[in-house]
Amino acid sequence: MIYLDSAATSFHKPPCVAEAVFKAMGQMGNSGRGGHPISLETGRVIYGARKKLAALFGVPDPSRVIFTANSTQSLNMAISGLFHPGDHVITTVLEHNSVLRPLFRLEDQGMALTILPCDQKGRLDPRQLEQALRPETKGVVCTHASNLTGNMVDIPQVGRFCRDHHLLLVVDASQTAGAFPIRMEEMGIHVLCFTGHKSLLGPQGTGGLCLAPGVELPSFCVGGSGIHSYSRTQPDQLPERLEAGTLNGHGIAGLSAALDWLAETGIEKIGLREQQLARRFYQQVKEVPDVKIYGDLEQHTRAPIVALNIGDNDSQEVCDHLAQRYGIAVRGGAHCAPLMHKALGTQEQGAVRFSFCWFNTEDEVDQAARAVAETAEEWT
Ligand code: ALA
Repeated sequence: MIYLDSAATSFHKPPCVAEAVFKAMGQMGNSGRGGHPISLETGRVIYGARKKLAALFGVPDPSRVIFTANSTQSLNMAISGLFHPGDHVITTVLEHNSVLRPLFRLEDQGMALTILPCDQKGRLDPRQLEQALRPETKGVVCTHASNLTGNMVDIPQVGRFCRDHHLLLVVDASQTAGAFPIRMEEMGIHVLCFTGHKSLLGPQGTGGLCLAPGVELPSFCVGGSGIHSYSRTQPDQLPERLEAGTLNGHGIAGLSAALDWLAETGIEKIGLREQQLARRFYQQVKEVPDVKIYGDLEQHTRAPIVALNIGDNDSQEVCDHLAQRYGIAVRGGAHCAPLMHKALGTQEQGAVRFSFCWFNTEDEVDQAARAVAETAEEWT
């Protein structure tokens, strides 16, 4: 199988990740729940992963790296903790439902929401931020890259706007963490939400959020913390305030190994290779008659995604054909980004999304491009 669906989850992982999970399954206890060596060692593994993530994202204090199950949980925690009825929040049509649904829920409760539109290529115009600003604006929630088109948002520019207007900036880094350098302070990010199972190459069920100094979130879920057991309320200190219940220690051990591999290999090198593969694919499919490509493929730095349609064919049927005839795994249909599909006019058809990773080969990319060309010839 040629796996080109890394934007959904990374399938190819460095072998050290599975090895670390296997080892953890045989050795791990419960971090912070005992003074015996197994519990203490588990705490060390988890703290080690926190430190590596803090270093990766430029978080000065590792206790401000909070583990969650995925980006969705992180975004729910950030959005519901920071924004309330009466506030005004700005977001974009590029967002995934993990941003939109928590915001829509708050909107239904009385929060005001402005959704910035994009152009035909799915690009935002940052000048729109200024126009959307109101006296009660509290923050901006924005993706780093669209999961549908791969277009990247200029987060440092959004960060400067937020800094100038004293707004909170929450960034969804689901498609970029692990493949692009992210420095929270330099980029002006207050809360960074990430998942472990995409470009960070860790196991599913790992993710987290990072809080900039001075940014506080209330506890989201309350329960066991391993400390202050006789208190009626969740401990206030971080990370325990935001980490009720046993952590996914086995998964975090795998994520920790993945972080070592990423550091050894080099995130910039990985990102460049992935973008080269995506570009190589784009250069071939853009020449194919009846293939429509979405997004700004000329953007200099972009997530390694190429979304397209072949004539008027249903995108899911195209994906099924690519899987059955060519053994190519890609995602079709709607991509949990309803406003992006609406803006691109692909609500009915969906889109066939090819997404690339470090482990893909040039030959796989070429085979996929040939499969698109042959399908276009047969189906249009
Ligand atoms: N959010 C993931 C995707 O874009 C699952 O496919």
